[in-house]
Amino acid sequence: MSEKIAFTIDGVTCKGEKGQFLVDAARDNGIYIPTLCNIPGVNPKSCCRICTVYVNGLPMTACSLQVFDGMEIINDTPALIEQRKIILEALFVEGNHYCPFCEKSGNCMLQALAYRFGMLAPRFPYTFPVREVDASHPKIIKDQNRCILCKRCIKAIKDEKGRSIFAYHRRGNKLRVHIDPKLALALTDELAQKAMDVCPVGSILVREKGYRVPIGQRTYDKMPIGSDIEVKK
Ligand code: SF4
Ligand code: FES
Repeated sequence: MSEKIAFTIDGVTCKGEKGQFLVDAARDNGIYIPTLCNIPGVNPKSCCRICTVYVNGLPMTACSLQVFDGMEIINDTPALIEQRKIILEALFVEGNHYCPFCEKSGNCMLQALAYRFGMLAPRFPYTFPVREVDASHPKIIKDQNRCILCKRCIKAIKDEKGRSIFAYHRRGNKLRVHIDPKLALALTDELAQKAMDVCPVGSILVREKGYRVPIGQRTYDKMPIGSDIEVKK
């Protein structure tokens, strides 16, 4: 049986198991810590930092930190909310995220987090990048203008031999997530849909399937992100 751990989040006593990641333990206790790059059950890479909390006074990413006995976690303060808004605003201005006509609207985690944290006009200037939209693959379209480089597709979308179909390409502000053209030929309909679903924004789209679920009836149209976790409280 796994060892039980006791800790507090914003003064509330919580229970977890040794080896559990903090975001997962918080979720089990009905407390939402926002995540963007993290996929439950997949090794965390801590790319986005939206899950940063204070642990015994120090900032740490909750997706990659395992709980330990006696932890005192601060998750919900005006300063942390502001910090999360800054990350979201930076992501919005760095790409081209036109929610009103994006196929991912209502299922987009970036958009849902912006609503959750009350983001209004970004404090940073828009960069309006002009990046390629790769429509050369039989099953999916990859729009680099919306990619937030979170690595979720790289971690989660693999062929039957365990090879990643997506990979980082180049560095610095030229960094892109590209599709391996040969492996993309082997993408099944199911894996193409999984790639679109795992992408937290609208950078990976399945071809010829737009707007089958009308805007207004999508996941975050119905309930704010994180509220499914908080109802467990
Ligand atoms: S394509 Fe989507 S899942 Fe992949 S890195 Fe970009 S934003 Fe993340
Ligand atoms: S969710 Fe933890 S760093 Fe992205």
